[in-house]
Amino acid sequence: GLVNTREMFKAANEKGYAVPAFNFNNMEQGMAIVEACAEMGSPVILQCSSGARKYMGKEIVPMLAKGLVEHVRAKGSDIPVALHLDHGSDLELIKDCIDYGFSSVMIDGSHYDFEKNIIVSKEAADYAHKFDVTVEAELGVLAGVEDDVVADEHVFTQPEEVEEFVSRTGVDSLAIAIGTSHGAHKFKPGSDPKLKLDILAEIERKIPGFPIVLHGSSAVPAKYVDMIKEFGGELTDAIGIPDDQLRGATKSAVSKINVDTDGRLAFTAGIRKVFGTNPKEFDPRKYLGPAMKEMKEYYQSKIVDVFGSEGA
Ligand code: G3H
Ligand code: 13P
Ligand code: NA
Ligand code: ZN
Repeated sequence: GLVNTREMFKAANEKGYAVPAFNFNNMEQGMAIVEACAEMGSPVILQCSSGARKYMGKEIVPMLAKGLVEHVRAKGSDIPVALHLDHGSDLELIKDCIDYGFSSVMIDGSHYDFEKNIIVSKEAADYAHKFDVTVEAELGVLAGVEDDVVADEHVFTQPEEVEEFVSRTGVDSLAIAIGTSHGAHKFKPGSDPKLKLDILAEIERKIPGFPIVLHGSSAVPAKYVDMIKEFGGELTDAIGIPDDQLRGATKSAVSKINVDTDGRLAFTAGIRKVFGTNPKEFDPRKYLGPAMKEMKEYYQSKIVDVFGSEGA
């Protein structure tokens, strides 16, 4: 069945890798994720946003996740799989997700002030722990998706605050802001796509070994941007986090890295390619199948290039 993230992060920390947290929105994406990770022998966090949960249906999400676990078990894989709520906004949503079988949740109080963030995060942790569900909280603010993202708009996590935050809340992992952001436009064209790795190092000194999470870590691979454009899509100034900026971080206490946008790009590129090369096709399996293969290849390459979680 589904497991929480406690043992996953412990192992990741000891062995110096990060666990992939891939967002999914339907069966094809879920299958691509678990098959990719099962074949690589990597633990995996199936990550579901509240929007994705609404889209799939809250009754379907846990059934699908459990079905995906059975699917890889039938192939002989014993990788640990967690079902995690991404960016949980409040306790009510978190309670509902736990009722429906999520094994891990995020409480995102990053937009509140320090004290309010502590209150909501502690409330979530106290509740979730009664059900052995692990909790991720966030301190610091990632620049917005729609905003014209420049480094100054991030509110970087203050290392002086992390120790008090994790000890007062009792959360299991901490998402930090060091220059990553959500979506396909993470840096201004021509600017230097650099993360604040000095802040990460400082945070690690304050809370040694505590599991750190990075959101907004898609690479926005040129391959998919080009494919999308080649087959009729429009995507300008799409810039992600270069893999080499993240690779070193996985060897540290960074234990979970979130990727959503890249999966969307691979999915869309795969579908567009079929439609562009075979306009007569209308069997969904004939375009979703190749798109699933495209996503799976992406997830596997990301595991090798960044996570280092293969054979874990
Ligand atoms: O952090 C945001 C994730 O990429 C989820 O996005 O709310 O559109 O599903 P979504
Ligand atoms: P990306 O948009 O970079 O894929 O980030 C996803 C994320 O952080 C989900 O919580
Ligand atoms: Na790590
Ligand atoms: Zn996020």
